[in-house]
Amino acid sequence: MLHMFAFAQSYMPIQGSTFAKGVDSLFDFTIWASIISFVILIGGLVIFVVKYQRRSDNDKTAYITHNVFLEFLWSFIPLCIFMGIFVWGYVLYKDMRQFPDNAIEVNVMGYQWGWTMTYSNGKQSGNELVVPVGKPVVLTMTSKDVIHSFYVPSFRIKQDAVPGKRSKLWFQSDRLGDYEMFCTEYCGTAHSKMIGKVRVVTQAEFNEFLAKDKSKMTLAELGQEAFNVKGCVACHSVDGTVKVGPSFKGLWGSTVNHSDGTTAVFDENYARTSILNPQEKFVAGFANVIMPTYQGQVSEEEITHLIEYIKSLK
Ligand code: CUA
Repeated sequence: MLHMFAFAQSYMPIQGSTFAKGVDSLFDFTIWASIISFVILIGGLVIFVVKYQRRSDNDKTAYITHNVFLEFLWSFIPLCIFMGIFVWGYVLYKDMRQFPDNAIEVNVMGYQWGWTMTYSNGKQSGNELVVPVGKPVVLTMTSKDVIHSFYVPSFRIKQDAVPGKRSKLWFQSDRLGDYEMFCTEYCGTAHSKMIGKVRVVTQAEFNEFLAKDKSKMTLAELGQEAFNVKGCVACHSVDGTVKVGPSFKGLWGSTVNHSDGTTAVFDENYARTSILNPQEKFVAGFANVIMPTYQGQVSEEEITHLIEYIKSLK
C-alpha cells in the first residue's frame, strides 16, 4: 500500500547506499505536498469560477474585506509543512556530513577529463572506485584544474571537487553491484565523457583489488619521503620535540591555537594552507618563525602524501 505513494523508487536509480531511502522519502513527501497543494489551489479556482460566475448584468459582488481565521490557516499550515521539510532535510544532511571514524579512506583527484582514485596503500585506479560492501567509505576530493563534481545517482550523493581545496564525502553501500558515477559540473569539452563506475564488492574481492599492482609505498610512506626530501624535517620533528617549528606528532585532528587567539582544527585544508601559505596564521608560540611558502614546489599529490603522513603520526 505504502509503496503506491513512493514515486521516487519507480523512476530514480536503484537505492544503492544507506542514504538513498531517506532522500527518496523526503523527495516523495515534497512531490505529494506539491500535488495536493496544486489540486487544492487549481481545483478551488475552477470551482469558484463556475460557482460564482456573473449571471446577470446587475449581479453584485458581496463586499468582503478579510477573514482572520482563514488567513491565519493558509499561512500557518504551509509554514508547518515547509518547516517540516527543512527539519527533515537537515537531519538527512547532518548524517551525510558526519564522517565515521572507522571508514575506508580514498583520495579522489578530478582532472580534465577523468578521475584518479588513490587508496591508502598507494594503489591507484582510474575512473573506477572499488569499495567493500557494508563498510563506510570517506572520499577526500580535490581537482587538478577546474571544478568537477562527483555524483553517484544510486547513492544519492554529490560533492564538488574543487582545485585548491579538499572536500569530503562519505557513503556506505550494503548492496553488491556496479553503479554509474558522473562528473556533474560542466568542466570543458569532454565533460560528458567524464563517466566512471563505483564497484561495490565483497571484502575478499576488495582485498584482492588492493593487493594487485599496488605501489611499493603506502601514501604515508610517500609522505615521509616528501617530508625528508622537501626539507620539512629541518624544522619539524615527528616525535614531539620542538625544533624550529611545531612537531607533527599528534597534530592530526587536534585543535591548533594561533598567536592571534583564534583556533582551528588541523585537517586536510588546514594542512594544505599551512604548506602553501604558512604566513596566513601563526601557531601560538611560533609567531616569529618565518616558514617559506611551498607554493609551486609541492604538487597536490605530494600534499596528499604529506597529509597521510601527518595522519599516521596520531
Ligand atoms: Cu569534470 Cu564535468
